[in-house]
Amino acid sequence: MIFSDALLQWFDANRREMPWREEPSPYRVWVSEIMLQQTRVSAVIPYFMRFIEQLPDVYALAAAKEDTLLLLWQGLGYYSRASNLQKAAAIIVEEHRGVIPSDYETLLTLPGIGPYTAGAVASIAFGEKVAAVDGNVLRVFTRVLEWYEDIQKTQTKRRIKEEAEARMPEDRPGDFNQSLMELGAMICLPQNPLCGKCPVREFCKARRNGTQRELPVKTGKKPVQEEKRTVFLLTAKNTLAIRKREATGLLKNMWEFLHTQGHLKEEEACLWLKNQGMQPVHMEKGPSYTHIFSHRAWNMISYVVEVERKEEENVWIVADELRNYAIPSAFSFLLRAYWDGE
Ligand code: ADE
Repeated sequence: MIFSDALLQWFDANRREMPWREEPSPYRVWVSEIMLQQTRVSAVIPYFMRFIEQLPDVYALAAAKEDTLLLLWQGLGYYSRASNLQKAAAIIVEEHRGVIPSDYETLLTLPGIGPYTAGAVASIAFGEKVAAVDGNVLRVFTRVLEWYEDIQKTQTKRRIKEEAEARMPEDRPGDFNQSLMELGAMICLPQNPLCGKCPVREFCKARRNGTQRELPVKTGKKPVQEEKRTVFLLTAKNTLAIRKREATGLLKNMWEFLHTQGHLKEEEACLWLKNQGMQPVHMEKGPSYTHIFSHRAWNMISYVVEVERKEEENVWIVADELRNYAIPSAFSFLLRAYWDGE
């Protein structure tokens, strides 16, 4: 049996159901592939369903208010994915008569669509014979071929794309790509690959030589930059203070709790609040939480503070209204930890 037959036979028997797989329209495939970047399938499914329900096509997406879009994305992270999705929708409406381009090269010209996403959409939605190389596929092929090249290098990715395309069957490019992703997610796991269950183990050089745990090689990993923050869960008469972030930079236009740089001691924190024109009447230490963004970590401590007056620079909301505001996970985890009494 050849590589693709072994893999597809396994995929046909083991493929997990996913809403975008059962109905792979170009719009659904595109939205799902953007959501699936850096996010697990199980986490994506409820977001995907809600998104498609509220913004069922490129016209609805292009016309959506930014707040609506951010709220639909709230908790998924990497929010620039949502704004690029909307920018691309506007281009599709204006320059492509509302029709999602059907070929790899044209897809690549759209914001937020790189080689991986262009390959996934072209192959899954349109049957084009082009590979979609994500982290899973890089891991599978560096092991199958026993390649020690750094998978972060563009050249390695390009060569693996060629290797994948050389094995791709004419009639099922989309299924072939998805079977590779599925293999990476279910069998060819990063730490403990389940080689005994692998449908392509006979083709795998790393398995033959026992080197699967050494692969893939990643050398130029960016260090995580740690930043300290002091966050204030500011309350007044059963309401909580939130404010809108700036329109540029990390988490732009989302909502957040008051916070400042560094870890302030209680007296310093009190002074900082007073300098902001606030009069704390009660203050206690709240939970701590570290949130990792792609290459930075926020090490957050918090204070729960009661103030007399509702300052007008903030928006004061009751707990039930939280769901109407896009609050990044970094902050909402902290609030949940406080409510859970940690
Ligand atoms: N990860 C990214 N795209 C995927 C897909 N189409 N199926 C399963 N996992 C994926």
